[in-house]
Amino acid sequence: MQRKTYAVINGEQIKENVKEIIQKYNDYEYYIGVVKNNAYHHGIRCILDMIEGGVNYLAVSSLEEALQIRKYNQEISILCLEPISIESIDDAINANITLTVESLSYLKNMLKSDLYASLKIHIAIDSGMNRLGFKSKNELNEAISLIKESKRIILEGIYTHFATSGIIDSKWDLQLQTFQKITEDIDLASIPIVHLGRSLTLVNHPKISFANGIRLGIIMYGFSQSQVLGKGFRSKLRSIKMKYLQKKNHCSTTTLQNDLKLKTAMSLYSEIISIRDVKEGDYVGYNTYRIKEDGYIATIPIGYADGVTKKFEKVYIKGDYCEIVSDSMDMIMVYSKKKKKVGDQVEIFGEHIPISQVCLNNKINAYHLFNQISNRVTRVHLSKNRKEEIIY
Ligand SMILES: Cc1ncc(COP(=O)(O)O)c(C=O)c1O
Repeated sequence: MQRKTYAVINGEQIKENVKEIIQKYNDYEYYIGVVKNNAYHHGIRCILDMIEGGVNYLAVSSLEEALQIRKYNQEISILCLEPISIESIDDAINANITLTVESLSYLKNMLKSDLYASLKIHIAIDSGMNRLGFKSKNELNEAISLIKESKRIILEGIYTHFATSGIIDSKWDLQLQTFQKITEDIDLASIPIVHLGRSLTLVNHPKISFANGIRLGIIMYGFSQSQVLGKGFRSKLRSIKMKYLQKKNHCSTTTLQNDLKLKTAMSLYSEIISIRDVKEGDYVGYNTYRIKEDGYIATIPIGYADGVTKKFEKVYIKGDYCEIVSDSMDMIMVYSKKKKKVGDQVEIFGEHIPISQVCLNNKINAYHLFNQISNRVTRVHLSKNRKEEIIY
């Protein structure tokens, strides 16, 4: 690594998170690790930690992502959540990738193509998100009949995706009912894997009785989704209001808090590449920040091309929090009252600046933050005293 801007990924922590989740929610057969977009930008190497932690199926967006995983593991089942082009189905079969069938017309095209070997599929049901999946019971029933007649297509799973958090939220309940309505003619118990929920479903709702799989996404990367209710008068009031709304809107029971002990696994670092002293009244950078007090400007090789802007507000350098006063595509400038040195390590987030704080400053959630840290930033993966540099 020449440019010393890197994200440290603590693989052991990801493994511990997965273990903790599975230990606390142990009534599923299939724990499907959602590792799309390079494992939420933690680097696909993390799949080995997840598997050690207990994940026994993986899910990605595209065939390209699935094939990347095959470089690390040839055995684990991988579900592609987006439909792939019909021309690429042979590649999926070759690599033992499970495909999503999301409409009758897609299935018919699949059947028209000359499948040379067996292909595992999961059917996606659109229970209300209007993104992918069967919406019509009749079309679903026709699809099931066609699959039964086919010698090559194996129906391994059926799933849906909840659009909302489900916290005191009748839309979530409606999606569950819609799923049940669309699938009412089907014997769900005869399908090996039924998976409806994602991280929020796992912790906020009682287990859906007929589901034996759960898709774990953001939770594996350290977000327990536990709601902070607090103890004061306002928190009590909030809790009463929530109970009232739950009753009024006939929403199913929601668990707001859980005791999962999870930690984030990504930290972001860089180092000072240049330092200069500045006087009160001097201007800095494109946004021409005006210096309020004599001090120092440290230039750091990380910018919006890496996913970091002034909105991050501050960095941590050797015991001090320093304000980000200017940003650009490749560099930020920070102000320090104390002199710092070229080569000093700079923490963008990590031990001293938690990800939750960075999300608040940026007014984004953790999904967006992780995906914002671009592939240009080298991932340094740590596991069992091994350090591996991953460059995409
Ligand atoms: C179909 C599907 N399932 C599961 C997930 C994982 O969601 P979460 O990270 O909220 O657990 C995603 C994430 O985008 C998804 O698209």
